[in-house]
Amino acid sequence: MAKFQSLLALLALVPVLVRAQQTVWGQCGGIGWTGATTCASGSVCTEQNAYYSQCLPSSAVPSSAPPTTAPTTAPPTKTSPTTTSPTNSAPSSTATPAPGNPFTGFEWYLSPYYASEVSAAAAQMTGSAAQQAASVANIPTFIWFDQVAKVPQLSTYLADASAQQTSTGQKLIVPIVVYDLPDRDCAAAASNGEFTIQDNGQANYENYIDQIAAAVAQYPDVRVVAIIEPDSLANLVTNLSVAECSAAETTYKTCITYALQQLAAVGVYMYMDAGHAGWLGWPANLSPAAELFAQMYVAGGSSPFIRGLATNVANYNALVAATPDPITQGNPNYDEQLYINALAPMLQQQGFSAQFVVEQARSGVQNIRQQWGDWCNVKGAGFGTQPTTNTGNSLIDAIVWVKPGGESDGTSNTSAARYDYHCGLSDADQPSPEAGTWFQEYFQTLVSQANPPIPA
Ligand code: GLC
Repeated sequence: MAKFQSLLALLALVPVLVRAQQTVWGQCGGIGWTGATTCASGSVCTEQNAYYSQCLPSSAVPSSAPPTTAPTTAPPTKTSPTTTSPTNSAPSSTATPAPGNPFTGFEWYLSPYYASEVSAAAAQMTGSAAQQAASVANIPTFIWFDQVAKVPQLSTYLADASAQQTSTGQKLIVPIVVYDLPDRDCAAAASNGEFTIQDNGQANYENYIDQIAAAVAQYPDVRVVAIIEPDSLANLVTNLSVAECSAAETTYKTCITYALQQLAAVGVYMYMDAGHAGWLGWPANLSPAAELFAQMYVAGGSSPFIRGLATNVANYNALVAATPDPITQGNPNYDEQLYINALAPMLQQQGFSAQFVVEQARSGVQNIRQQWGDWCNVKGAGFGTQPTTNTGNSLIDAIVWVKPGGESDGTSNTSAARYDYHCGLSDADQPSPEAGTWFQEYFQTLVSQANPPIPA
Protein backbone atom coordinates (compact mmCIF):
# COMPACT_ATOMS: atom_id res chain seq x y z
CA MET A 1 0.00 0.00 0.00
CA ALA A 2 2.88 2.35 0.86
CA LYS A 3 4.11 1.77 -2.65
CA PHE A 4 0.88 3.04 -4.13
CA GLN A 5 0.76 6.04 -1.89
CA SER A 6 4.26 7.14 -2.83
CA LEU A 7 3.38 6.62 -6.48
CA LEU A 8 0.36 8.81 -5.98
CA ALA A 9 2.43 11.47 -4.24
CA LEU A 10 4.91 11.41 -7.11
CA LEU A 11 2.17 11.77 -9.70
CA ALA A 12 0.75 14.74 -7.87
CA LEU A 13 4.03 16.56 -8.41
CA VAL A 14 4.15 15.94 -12.15
CA PRO A 15 2.81 18.93 -14.09
CA VAL A 16 -0.34 17.86 -15.89
CA LEU A 17 -1.84 19.30 -19.05
CA VAL A 18 -5.15 20.84 -18.15
CA ARG A 19 -6.61 20.94 -21.66
CA ALA A 20 -9.97 19.11 -21.99
CA GLN A 21 -9.25 16.57 -19.35
CA GLN A 22 -11.54 13.71 -18.46
CA THR A 23 -12.55 13.36 -14.81
CA VAL A 24 -11.67 10.30 -12.75
CA TRP A 25 -13.70 7.24 -13.88
CA GLY A 26 -14.74 9.02 -17.10
CA GLN A 27 -14.14 7.63 -20.58
CA CYS A 28 -10.87 8.71 -22.21
CA GLY A 29 -10.64 6.55 -25.32
CA GLY A 30 -11.91 3.61 -27.34
CA ILE A 31 -13.26 2.99 -30.82
CA GLY A 32 -15.53 5.87 -31.81
CA TRP A 33 -14.60 8.04 -28.81
CA THR A 34 -14.12 11.71 -29.72
CA GLY A 35 -13.93 13.26 -26.23
CA ALA A 36 -10.99 14.07 -23.99
CA THR A 37 -8.14 11.57 -24.01
CA THR A 38 -6.16 12.91 -21.08
CA CYS A 39 -7.16 12.34 -17.49
CA ALA A 40 -7.46 14.55 -14.44
CA SER A 41 -4.49 14.72 -12.12
CA GLY A 42 -4.07 11.55 -10.09
CA SER A 43 -5.76 9.32 -12.67
CA VAL A 44 -4.49 7.41 -15.67
CA CYS A 45 -6.23 6.56 -18.95
CA THR A 46 -6.45 2.77 -18.86
CA GLU A 47 -7.73 0.54 -21.66
CA GLN A 48 -10.60 -1.68 -20.50
CA ASN A 49 -11.40 -3.04 -23.94
CA ALA A 50 -11.17 -1.86 -27.56
CA TYR A 51 -14.26 0.28 -27.07
CA TYR A 52 -13.51 1.78 -23.73
CA SER A 53 -10.59 3.38 -21.97
CA GLN A 54 -11.23 4.93 -18.63
CA CYS A 55 -9.52 7.39 -16.28
CA LEU A 56 -8.72 5.25 -13.27
CA PRO A 57 -7.27 6.65 -10.04
CA SER A 58 -3.52 6.07 -10.22
CA SER A 59 -3.77 3.91 -7.14
CA ALA A 60 -6.26 1.61 -8.90
CA VAL A 61 -4.24 1.07 -12.08
CA PRO A 62 -2.68 -2.36 -12.17
CA SER A 63 1.06 -1.81 -11.99
CA SER A 64 3.90 -4.18 -12.76
CA ALA A 65 3.48 -5.44 -9.22
CA PRO A 66 -0.26 -6.16 -9.08
CA PRO A 67 -1.97 -6.10 -5.71
CA THR A 68 -2.45 -9.43 -4.05
CA THR A 69 -5.86 -11.05 -4.02
CA ALA A 70 -8.56 -9.32 -2.08
CA PRO A 71 -9.53 -11.99 0.48
CA THR A 72 -6.34 -11.36 2.45
CA THR A 73 -7.32 -7.73 3.05
CA ALA A 74 -7.35 -6.74 6.68
CA PRO A 75 -10.77 -6.28 8.28
CA PRO A 76 -12.16 -2.76 8.33
CA THR A 77 -10.82 -0.63 11.11
CA LYS A 78 -12.95 2.38 10.28
CA THR A 79 -16.43 2.33 11.70
CA SER A 80 -17.29 6.00 11.79
CA PRO A 81 -19.36 7.30 8.88
CA THR A 82 -17.32 10.44 8.54
CA THR A 83 -13.74 9.23 8.60
CA THR A 84 -11.28 10.81 6.23
CA SER A 85 -10.98 9.73 2.63
CA PRO A 86 -10.88 5.98 2.19
CA THR A 87 -7.84 4.01 1.29
CA ASN A 88 -8.31 3.27 -2.33
CA SER A 89 -7.75 -0.45 -2.46
CA ALA A 90 -7.31 -1.55 -6.02
CA PRO A 91 -9.83 -3.83 -7.66
CA SER A 92 -7.98 -7.11 -7.93
CA SER A 93 -10.28 -8.67 -10.53
CA THR A 94 -8.85 -12.01 -9.49
CA ALA A 95 -12.05 -13.51 -8.09
CA THR A 96 -13.44 -15.88 -10.72
CA PRO A 97 -17.22 -16.12 -10.88
CA ALA A 98 -18.86 -19.43 -11.31
CA PRO A 99 -20.60 -19.37 -14.69
CA GLY A 100 -24.37 -19.29 -14.78
CA ASN A 101 -27.09 -18.44 -12.34
CA PRO A 102 -25.46 -17.39 -9.04
CA PHE A 103 -28.45 -18.70 -7.07
CA THR A 104 -28.24 -22.26 -8.36
CA GLY A 105 -27.01 -24.69 -5.74
CA PHE A 106 -27.21 -22.14 -2.95
CA GLU A 107 -29.66 -21.57 -0.13
CA TRP A 108 -30.39 -18.13 1.29
CA TYR A 109 -29.07 -16.75 4.53
CA LEU A 110 -32.03 -15.43 6.52
CA SER A 111 -31.75 -11.89 7.86
CA PRO A 112 -31.67 -11.99 11.66
CA TYR A 113 -32.79 -8.37 11.75
CA TYR A 114 -35.89 -8.98 9.65
CA ALA A 115 -36.58 -12.14 11.64
CA SER A 116 -36.55 -10.09 14.84
CA GLU A 117 -38.94 -7.52 13.36
CA VAL A 118 -41.24 -10.27 12.16
CA SER A 119 -41.30 -12.22 15.40
CA ALA A 120 -42.05 -9.06 17.37
CA ALA A 121 -44.90 -8.40 14.93
CA ALA A 122 -46.25 -11.94 15.14
CA ALA A 123 -46.21 -11.71 18.95
CA GLN A 124 -48.86 -9.01 18.66
CA MET A 125 -51.14 -11.27 16.62
CA THR A 126 -53.23 -14.31 17.47
CA GLY A 127 -54.39 -17.57 15.96
CA SER A 128 -53.38 -18.87 12.53
CA ALA A 129 -52.59 -15.33 11.36
CA ALA A 130 -49.90 -15.14 14.03
CA GLN A 131 -48.47 -18.47 12.87
CA GLN A 132 -48.39 -17.38 9.26
CA ALA A 133 -46.85 -14.06 10.28
CA ALA A 134 -44.11 -15.80 12.25
CA SER A 135 -43.19 -17.98 9.30
CA VAL A 136 -42.43 -14.90 7.18
CA ALA A 137 -39.12 -14.86 9.06
CA ASN A 138 -38.19 -18.02 7.13
CA ILE A 139 -38.72 -16.43 3.73
CA PRO A 140 -35.46 -15.01 2.39
CA THR A 141 -35.46 -11.22 2.21
CA PHE A 142 -32.65 -8.85 1.25
CA ILE A 143 -30.75 -6.96 3.96
CA TRP A 144 -30.60 -3.21 3.40
CA PHE A 145 -27.43 -1.31 4.19
CA ASP A 146 -29.00 2.12 4.06
CA GLN A 147 -26.53 3.68 6.54
CA VAL A 148 -22.80 3.20 6.92
CA ALA A 149 -23.28 2.56 10.64
CA LYS A 150 -25.06 -0.71 9.73
CA VAL A 151 -22.14 -2.13 7.73
CA PRO A 152 -20.39 -3.74 10.73
CA GLN A 153 -23.47 -5.99 10.97
CA LEU A 154 -22.53 -7.40 7.59
CA SER A 155 -19.40 -8.97 9.09
CA THR A 156 -21.56 -10.53 11.79
CA TYR A 157 -23.98 -11.97 9.24
CA LEU A 158 -21.16 -13.27 7.05
CA ALA A 159 -19.49 -14.93 10.01
CA ASP A 160 -22.82 -16.46 10.98
CA ALA A 161 -23.45 -17.68 7.40
CA SER A 162 -19.95 -19.11 7.23
CA ALA A 163 -20.48 -21.02 10.48
CA GLN A 164 -23.87 -22.32 9.28
CA GLN A 165 -22.27 -23.53 6.05
CA THR A 166 -19.60 -25.36 7.96
CA SER A 167 -22.08 -27.11 10.19
CA THR A 168 -24.67 -28.03 7.53
CA GLY A 169 -22.55 -28.34 4.39
CA GLN A 170 -25.12 -26.20 2.56
CA LYS A 171 -23.65 -23.20 0.72
CA LEU A 172 -25.34 -19.89 1.48
CA ILE A 173 -25.96 -16.57 -0.21
CA VAL A 174 -26.15 -13.40 1.85
CA PRO A 175 -28.42 -11.02 -0.10
CA ILE A 176 -27.77 -7.31 0.44
CA VAL A 177 -28.96 -3.96 -0.86
CA VAL A 178 -26.32 -1.28 -1.36
CA TYR A 179 -28.24 1.93 -0.70
CA ASP A 180 -26.39 4.96 0.57
CA LEU A 181 -25.64 7.31 -2.33
CA PRO A 182 -25.04 10.94 -1.50
CA ASP A 183 -28.20 12.96 -2.24
CA ARG A 184 -30.10 9.67 -2.33
CA ASP A 185 -33.68 9.48 -3.62
CA CYS A 186 -33.17 12.63 -5.70
CA ALA A 187 -36.69 12.71 -7.19
CA ALA A 188 -38.55 11.99 -3.96
CA ALA A 189 -38.30 12.86 -0.28
CA ALA A 190 -39.21 9.80 1.77
CA SER A 191 -35.87 7.98 1.59
CA ASN A 192 -33.39 10.85 1.50
CA GLY A 193 -30.13 9.51 2.90
CA GLU A 194 -27.38 10.44 5.32
CA PHE A 195 -24.78 11.74 2.83
CA THR A 196 -24.88 14.91 0.77
CA ILE A 197 -22.75 15.74 -2.24
CA GLN A 198 -21.99 19.13 -0.70
CA ASP A 199 -20.62 17.65 2.48
CA ASN A 200 -17.98 15.12 1.43
CA GLY A 201 -20.61 12.75 0.03
CA GLN A 202 -18.47 10.98 -2.52
CA ALA A 203 -15.64 10.24 -0.08
CA ASN A 204 -18.13 9.11 2.55
CA TYR A 205 -19.74 6.81 0.01
CA GLU A 206 -16.42 5.35 -1.04
CA ASN A 207 -15.66 4.67 2.60
CA TYR A 208 -19.04 2.93 2.92
CA ILE A 209 -18.23 0.74 -0.10
CA ASP A 210 -14.73 0.04 1.19
CA GLN A 211 -16.19 -1.20 4.46
CA ILE A 212 -18.61 -3.52 2.65
CA ALA A 213 -15.82 -4.82 0.40
CA ALA A 214 -13.52 -5.43 3.36
CA ALA A 215 -16.23 -7.38 5.18
CA VAL A 216 -16.93 -9.52 2.10
CA ALA A 217 -13.23 -10.15 1.56
CA GLN A 218 -12.95 -11.63 5.04
CA TYR A 219 -15.42 -14.41 4.18
CA PRO A 220 -14.56 -15.64 0.67
CA ASP A 221 -16.47 -18.86 1.38
CA VAL A 222 -19.82 -17.04 1.57
CA ARG A 223 -21.49 -15.83 -1.60
CA VAL A 224 -22.87 -12.31 -1.56
CA VAL A 225 -25.48 -11.05 -4.02
CA ALA A 226 -26.13 -7.32 -4.05
CA ILE A 227 -28.73 -5.03 -5.52
CA ILE A 228 -27.10 -1.76 -6.36
CA GLU A 229 -28.76 1.51 -5.42
CA PRO A 230 -32.52 1.30 -5.96
CA ASP A 231 -34.01 4.09 -8.07
CA SER A 232 -30.76 5.94 -8.71
CA LEU A 233 -29.97 5.09 -12.35
CA ALA A 234 -33.64 5.07 -13.27
CA ASN A 235 -33.84 8.62 -11.94
CA LEU A 236 -30.97 9.54 -14.26
CA VAL A 237 -32.94 8.16 -17.21
CA THR A 238 -36.21 10.01 -16.63
CA ASN A 239 -35.81 12.61 -13.89
CA LEU A 240 -32.97 14.87 -14.97
CA SER A 241 -35.55 17.67 -15.08
CA VAL A 242 -35.58 17.44 -11.28
CA ALA A 243 -32.81 19.77 -10.08
CA GLU A 244 -31.58 17.39 -7.37
CA CYS A 245 -31.23 14.59 -9.92
CA SER A 246 -29.34 16.58 -12.54
CA ALA A 247 -27.07 17.95 -9.81
CA ALA A 248 -26.41 14.39 -8.64
CA GLU A 249 -25.88 12.78 -12.04
CA THR A 250 -22.08 12.81 -12.12
CA THR A 251 -21.74 11.81 -8.48
CA TYR A 252 -24.23 8.94 -8.83
CA LYS A 253 -22.31 7.57 -11.80
CA THR A 254 -18.93 7.97 -10.14
CA CYS A 255 -20.12 6.37 -6.92
CA ILE A 256 -21.90 3.47 -8.62
CA THR A 257 -18.84 2.84 -10.78
CA TYR A 258 -16.78 2.71 -7.62
CA ALA A 259 -19.22 0.27 -6.03
CA LEU A 260 -19.25 -1.98 -9.11
CA GLN A 261 -15.47 -2.08 -9.35
CA GLN A 262 -14.72 -2.59 -5.68
CA LEU A 263 -17.44 -5.16 -5.10
CA ALA A 264 -16.58 -7.08 -8.29
CA ALA A 265 -13.01 -7.26 -7.02
CA VAL A 266 -14.16 -9.19 -3.96
CA GLY A 267 -16.56 -11.40 -5.90
CA VAL A 268 -19.98 -9.90 -5.12
CA TYR A 269 -22.64 -10.77 -7.71
CA MET A 270 -24.43 -7.57 -8.60
CA TYR A 271 -27.72 -6.50 -10.12
CA MET A 272 -28.10 -2.79 -10.78
CA ASP A 273 -31.57 -1.52 -9.95
CA ALA A 274 -33.59 -0.85 -13.11
CA GLY A 275 -36.85 0.61 -11.86
CA HIS A 276 -39.90 -1.28 -13.08
CA ALA A 277 -42.24 -1.75 -16.05
CA GLY A 278 -44.19 1.41 -15.26
CA TRP A 279 -41.03 3.48 -15.16
CA LEU A 280 -38.30 2.44 -17.60
CA GLY A 281 -40.64 -0.03 -19.33
CA TRP A 282 -42.37 2.70 -21.31
CA PRO A 283 -41.20 2.23 -24.92
CA ALA A 284 -39.60 5.69 -25.10
CA ASN A 285 -37.48 4.99 -21.99
CA LEU A 286 -36.16 1.56 -22.96
CA SER A 287 -33.35 2.58 -25.22
CA PRO A 288 -31.93 5.43 -23.08
CA ALA A 289 -32.14 3.05 -20.12
CA ALA A 290 -30.26 0.32 -22.00
CA GLU A 291 -27.62 2.83 -22.96
CA LEU A 292 -27.06 3.98 -19.38
CA PHE A 293 -26.95 0.47 -17.90
CA ALA A 294 -24.53 -0.69 -20.59
CA GLN A 295 -22.39 2.37 -19.93
CA MET A 296 -22.29 1.56 -16.22
CA TYR A 297 -21.48 -2.08 -16.94
CA VAL A 298 -18.47 -1.02 -18.98
CA ALA A 299 -17.45 1.59 -16.42
CA GLY A 300 -17.59 -1.17 -13.81
CA GLY A 301 -15.02 -3.08 -15.83
CA SER A 302 -17.46 -5.34 -17.76
CA SER A 303 -17.01 -7.78 -14.94
CA PRO A 304 -19.01 -11.03 -15.03
CA PHE A 305 -19.88 -10.20 -11.42
CA ILE A 306 -22.07 -7.42 -12.81
CA ARG A 307 -24.62 -10.07 -13.53
CA GLY A 308 -27.47 -7.84 -14.63
CA LEU A 309 -30.40 -5.82 -13.39
CA ALA A 310 -33.01 -5.93 -10.64
CA THR A 311 -36.56 -4.83 -11.37
CA ASN A 312 -39.65 -3.92 -9.35
CA VAL A 313 -37.65 -3.34 -6.14
CA ALA A 314 -40.04 -2.09 -3.43
CA ASN A 315 -42.76 -1.94 -6.08
CA TYR A 316 -46.00 -3.83 -6.64
CA ASN A 317 -46.04 -4.99 -10.27
CA ALA A 318 -46.81 -8.55 -11.28
CA LEU A 319 -44.12 -10.61 -12.97
CA VAL A 320 -46.82 -11.86 -15.32
CA ALA A 321 -50.15 -10.04 -15.08
CA ALA A 322 -53.23 -12.12 -15.78
CA THR A 323 -54.73 -9.07 -17.47
CA PRO A 324 -53.27 -5.57 -17.72
CA ASP A 325 -54.13 -3.34 -14.76
CA PRO A 326 -56.18 -0.45 -16.27
CA ILE A 327 -53.62 2.05 -14.87
CA THR A 328 -50.98 0.61 -17.24
CA GLN A 329 -52.96 1.65 -20.30
CA GLY A 330 -50.77 2.84 -23.15
CA ASN A 331 -47.74 0.80 -22.14
CA PRO A 332 -47.42 -2.50 -24.00
CA ASN A 333 -44.95 -3.57 -21.28
CA TYR A 334 -47.55 -3.77 -18.55
CA ASP A 335 -45.77 -6.35 -16.39
CA GLU A 336 -42.19 -7.12 -15.37
CA GLN A 337 -41.70 -10.00 -17.77
CA LEU A 338 -42.77 -7.88 -20.75
CA TYR A 339 -40.44 -5.11 -19.57
CA ILE A 340 -37.50 -7.50 -19.19
CA ASN A 341 -38.14 -9.18 -22.53
CA ALA A 342 -38.15 -5.75 -24.19
CA LEU A 343 -35.08 -4.39 -22.42
CA ALA A 344 -32.77 -7.42 -22.59
CA PRO A 345 -32.16 -7.40 -26.36
CA MET A 346 -31.35 -3.69 -26.26
CA LEU A 347 -28.79 -4.33 -23.54
CA GLN A 348 -27.36 -7.20 -25.56
CA GLN A 349 -26.96 -4.91 -28.56
CA GLN A 350 -24.85 -2.70 -26.34
CA GLY A 351 -22.68 -5.61 -25.24
CA PHE A 352 -24.32 -6.23 -21.87
CA SER A 353 -25.83 -9.73 -21.63
CA ALA A 354 -27.80 -8.88 -18.53
CA GLN A 355 -29.69 -11.40 -16.44
CA PHE A 356 -32.43 -10.28 -14.09
CA VAL A 357 -33.89 -10.66 -10.64
CA VAL A 358 -37.47 -9.53 -10.07
CA GLU A 359 -38.93 -8.46 -6.77
CA GLN A 360 -42.33 -9.93 -5.90
CA ALA A 361 -42.45 -9.35 -2.13
CA ARG A 362 -45.52 -7.11 -2.25
CA SER A 363 -46.98 -8.09 -5.63
CA GLY A 364 -49.52 -10.65 -4.43
CA VAL A 365 -52.57 -8.47 -5.05
CA GLN A 366 -52.94 -6.58 -8.32
CA ASN A 367 -55.07 -3.60 -9.41
CA ILE A 368 -54.80 -1.75 -6.10
CA ARG A 369 -53.25 1.52 -7.27
CA GLN A 370 -54.93 4.63 -8.61
CA GLN A 371 -51.89 5.59 -10.64
CA TRP A 372 -49.03 3.39 -11.77
CA GLY A 373 -46.57 5.81 -10.18
CA ASP A 374 -48.00 5.33 -6.67
CA TRP A 375 -45.37 3.60 -4.54
CA CYS A 376 -45.88 4.52 -0.90
CA ASN A 377 -47.40 1.82 1.35
CA VAL A 378 -50.06 1.01 -1.22
CA LYS A 379 -53.20 -0.11 0.55
CA GLY A 380 -54.34 -3.69 0.22
CA ALA A 381 -50.98 -5.12 -0.89
CA GLY A 382 -50.24 -8.76 -0.10
CA PHE A 383 -47.05 -10.79 -0.07
CA GLY A 384 -46.39 -12.28 -3.51
CA THR A 385 -44.58 -15.21 -5.07
CA GLN A 386 -41.88 -16.44 -2.76
CA PRO A 387 -38.22 -16.45 -3.81
CA THR A 388 -37.36 -19.11 -6.35
CA THR A 389 -35.09 -19.79 -9.29
CA ASN A 390 -38.03 -21.43 -11.00
CA THR A 391 -38.88 -18.28 -12.96
CA GLY A 392 -40.19 -19.59 -16.27
CA ASN A 393 -37.91 -17.22 -18.17
CA SER A 394 -34.25 -17.86 -18.98
CA LEU A 395 -33.47 -14.14 -18.62
CA ILE A 396 -34.62 -14.19 -15.01
CA ASP A 397 -32.20 -15.72 -12.50
CA ALA A 398 -34.59 -15.50 -9.56
CA ILE A 399 -37.79 -14.12 -8.15
CA VAL A 400 -36.70 -12.31 -4.99
CA TRP A 401 -38.01 -10.45 -1.97
CA VAL A 402 -36.05 -7.25 -1.61
CA LYS A 403 -38.29 -4.89 0.34
CA PRO A 404 -38.70 -6.24 3.86
CA GLY A 405 -42.49 -6.41 3.92
CA GLY A 406 -43.73 -4.49 6.95
CA GLU A 407 -41.08 -1.78 6.78
CA SER A 408 -42.69 1.49 5.74
CA ASP A 409 -41.98 3.26 2.45
CA GLY A 410 -42.35 6.70 3.99
CA THR A 411 -44.12 8.74 6.60
CA SER A 412 -47.59 10.21 6.14
CA ASN A 413 -46.80 12.95 8.65
CA THR A 414 -47.01 16.09 6.52
CA SER A 415 -44.76 18.06 8.86
CA ALA A 416 -41.90 15.53 8.78
CA ALA A 417 -38.73 16.57 6.92
CA ARG A 418 -38.96 13.45 4.75
CA TYR A 419 -42.68 13.74 3.99
CA ASP A 420 -43.41 12.83 0.38
CA TYR A 421 -46.87 13.58 -1.00
CA HIS A 422 -47.15 10.03 -2.38
CA CYS A 423 -47.47 8.86 1.23
CA GLY A 424 -50.54 11.08 1.64
CA LEU A 425 -52.40 9.85 -1.46
CA SER A 426 -55.73 8.13 -0.96
CA ASP A 427 -54.32 4.74 -2.01
CA ALA A 428 -51.49 5.03 0.55
CA ASP A 429 -52.12 3.30 3.87
CA GLN A 430 -52.14 5.87 6.71
CA PRO A 431 -50.96 6.84 9.24
CA SER A 432 -47.56 5.49 8.22
CA PRO A 433 -44.21 5.79 10.03
CA GLU A 434 -40.83 6.90 8.63
CA ALA A 435 -39.31 4.93 5.75
CA GLY A 436 -37.65 1.73 6.91
CA THR A 437 -39.43 1.59 10.26
CA TRP A 438 -41.98 -1.03 11.22
CA PHE A 439 -45.59 -0.59 10.12
CA GLN A 440 -47.54 -3.26 11.97
CA GLU A 441 -50.94 -2.83 10.37
CA TYR A 442 -49.37 -2.87 6.91
CA PHE A 443 -47.50 -6.07 7.69
CA GLN A 444 -50.68 -7.75 8.93
CA THR A 445 -52.42 -6.96 5.66
CA LEU A 446 -49.46 -8.26 3.64
CA VAL A 447 -49.86 -11.55 5.52
CA SER A 448 -53.66 -11.79 5.25
CA GLN A 449 -53.66 -10.84 1.55
CA ALA A 450 -50.65 -12.99 0.61
CA ASN A 451 -50.97 -14.73 -2.73
CA PRO A 452 -49.91 -17.50 -2.64
CA PRO A 453 -50.78 -17.78 1.07
CA ILE A 454 -47.96 -17.86 3.60
CA PRO A 455 -47.67 -21.38 5.00
CA ALA A 456 -48.55 -21.50 8.69
C1 GLC B 1 -36.63 2.56 2.38
C2 GLC B 1 -35.93 3.26 3.52
C3 GLC B 1 -34.73 2.49 4.00
C4 GLC B 1 -35.10 1.04 4.25
C5 GLC B 1 -35.71 0.45 3.02
C6 GLC B 1 -36.19 -0.98 3.25
O1 GLC B 1 -35.96 2.77 1.22
O2 GLC B 1 -35.57 4.55 3.17
O3 GLC B 1 -34.26 3.07 5.17
O4 GLC B 1 -33.98 0.32 4.64
O5 GLC B 1 -36.82 1.19 2.61
O6 GLC B 1 -37.29 -1.00 4.11
